[in-house]
Amino acid sequence: MSGGQFFKAVIVPAVLLGLSAWAFASLTFACLTPAPGSSISASTTNQDGGAVSELKEKEANRKDYTGDGACESCHQDVANNYLHTAHHLTSQLPSKNSMAGKFTAGANTLRTFDPNLRFTMAAAKGSYYETAIFWQPPDEQKQTERIDMVVGSGQRGQTYLYWKGDRLFQLPVSYWAPLGEWLNSPGYTDGTADFNRPVVPRCLECHATYFTAIPSAPFENRYQKTSAVLGISCEKCHGPGRRHVELERLKANHAEQPEHSASKAPANKAAEGNSEIVNPRKLSRDRQMDICAECHGGLGEERASAFSFVPGQPLADYLELQQPDPEAKVDVHGNQVALLERSRCYQSSAKITCNFCHDVHEPERNAAAYSDRCLSCHKPESCGEYPKLGQDIAKNCVDCHMPVQDSNLIVAKVTSQAGGKQVKMPIRNHWIKVYAAQQ
Ligand code: HEC
Ligand code: HEC
Ligand code: HEC
Ligand code: HEC
Ligand code: HEC
Ligand code: HEC
Ligand code: HEC
Repeated sequence: MSGGQFFKAVIVPAVLLGLSAWAFASLTFACLTPAPGSSISASTTNQDGGAVSELKEKEANRKDYTGDGACESCHQDVANNYLHTAHHLTSQLPSKNSMAGKFTAGANTLRTFDPNLRFTMAAAKGSYYETAIFWQPPDEQKQTERIDMVVGSGQRGQTYLYWKGDRLFQLPVSYWAPLGEWLNSPGYTDGTADFNRPVVPRCLECHATYFTAIPSAPFENRYQKTSAVLGISCEKCHGPGRRHVELERLKANHAEQPEHSASKAPANKAAEGNSEIVNPRKLSRDRQMDICAECHGGLGEERASAFSFVPGQPLADYLELQQPDPEAKVDVHGNQVALLERSRCYQSSAKITCNFCHDVHEPERNAAAYSDRCLSCHKPESCGEYPKLGQDIAKNCVDCHMPVQDSNLIVAKVTSQAGGKQVKMPIRNHWIKVYAAQQ
């Protein structure tokens, strides 16, 4: 869709025309935003009423969650490293530290293909703004919104959100780190200024810990502002931790006060062997994969309300993931699970989970460093390229067998910058195999 003329025609911005947000909603992060009305809550969709109450029971009470602060006090080493991970940083409040984008004069403008629409990004007194400027002086008109939330650790890019009352919207300009430039937000069309794109719960479910959504059709983007817990917390993967914290504090107190331990011993005994918290390593492979698949298994279709999934439970009760046709192309974006599952390594060895290679408590290592994982099952000699490359092959199995490829789902269109081309987000393919390009 090059659509030059078309968008010239609708340059009168959507906001001014008062077009409904839905007109453009289907374009947002194309794969990742459900079509209007397709986000389903447990109370309305389950065919049999029984399943609804069962799900409600499985849903943890928010009061059972403590927040990362509590974990830090005892698991300091883990927590200190975790603070630097993309998971922890994936949604934040705007600040000097969290902003990847450049706000200095000269680097803070996005021109569009239409001379009558440009954007400027400005910082003032600790706040950050996006402004769309329509037409030229003296007819110039502006719309300015403050950036209220930053999504994306900034390794590849960041998208910005703003509140209008209790409704949350995406802003039209994003920052693409590898280019060091401001670009139209993915899925937005160059030459339009759309401030009306609603941010649905599923987006936040993958990029934050928790939001209380206020169900109120037809709006899918109302939230209790004060309920927001940004970043991905320990409990997102470990489940609610209050009982674990209480148990461990009790144990610690007993250790300090041996004279009391006799009387409280039965409580301790009852808890023996049960730490009251999920350790993914102790789960079956499917349940381990489920924890990552909540966010790395594609958009899926919600079978229970967002933010209700509890680690250790079968994800399928909460979210129905698409089962891609084995022949169909799976995009590299956000679906490492389906791609890994296609790999013969995964199918032939029950040992492989996401955690087999990744330690999610640590910032990502460089790709080549993962070759030792391959070599725990393969010998360099079993690679067809061994005769040619010899032992050097062991330095980097990954770039040949899990290459970085462009996503066709996260695409930003630019006509006035970067040579008027499309910019696609490069993502590592998790289908471990021999790639044609190598031969
Ligand atoms: C009062 C100290 C304390 C606090 C607070 C605490 N933990 Fe722990 N945690 C421990 C100790 C001690 C162990 C080791 C228990 C054992 O091996 O029996 C442990 C074990 C664990 C385990 C492994 C459990 C297993 O069954 O293998 C996980 C996971 C964990 N903690 C996560 C958390 C998270 C997440 C939080 C915050 C919600 C947290 N902890 C808060 C002390 C604490
Ligand atoms: C993205 C998911 C994720 C997040 C977030 C996360 N963990 Fe974990 N954690 C795991 C997985 C997976 C394992 C099991 C690793 C393995 O297979 O050895 C684990 C294991 C643990 C263990 C047990 C270690 C052991 O040797 O058995 C502790 C303790 C722990 N995590 C604490 C934390 C704390 C504290 C935080 C927050 C600062 C946190 N985790 C955040 C996924 C996560
Ligand atoms: C709540 C959603 C969520 C869960 C659960 C989750 N992830 Fe992620 N993960 C993300 C998002 C979002 C990103 C991209 C973060 C960014 O760069 O802004 C990400 C990024 C990553 C990265 C890249 C890190 C980097 O430094 O670029 C790895 C590796 C990863 N996840 C592995 C896992 C594994 C393994 C699990 C399961 C143990 C898991 N994730 C669970 C949402 C999640
Ligand atoms: C199904 C889970 C999921 C949903 C829904 C989702 N994302 Fe993502 N997002 C990811 C994962 C996983 C990554 C890491 C790259 C990858 O694996 O494709 C990511 C990457 C990103 C990045 C780049 C971060 C970086 O620096 O690398 C941005 C920005 C982003 N998402 C914004 C959004 C916004 C805004 C929405 C909602 C409109 C959204 N995403 C919806 C899972 C999701
Ligand atoms: C837990 C063990 C294990 C790990 C780890 C592992 N593999 Fe495999 N891999 C296998 C098994 C088993 C097969 C199937 C062999 C067969 O059927 O002959 C396989 C198959 C393959 C194939 C052939 C795929 C095809 O479609 O024909 C390639 C290439 C490969 N592995 C490369 C890698 C690379 C590169 C890594 C590291 C990124 C890796 N493997 C990690 C066990 C593993
Ligand atoms: C320079 C790119 C490159 C590197 C580096 C590389 N491979 Fe390969 N590998 C290939 C190609 C190409 C083939 C297919 C060769 C053929 O069909 O003759 C292959 C074949 C294989 C196969 C056999 C697949 C099958 O069943 O036919 C395995 C297993 C494998 N590689 C594992 C590895 C491991 C493990 C490493 C790291 C130690 C590695 N490769 C490094 C390119 C590479
Ligand atoms: C055989 C090893 C292996 C397994 C298993 C594995 N990964 Fe990865 N993953 C890698 C390597 C290597 C990278 C590249 C790291 C880098 O470039 O720094 C990577 C990168 C990622 C990234 C960042 C994507 C990007 O483009 O930078 C995400 C997200 C991720 N993995 C998630 C997962 C999830 C979720 C699973 C389970 C479904 C998983 N991985 C299983 C080896 C693995």
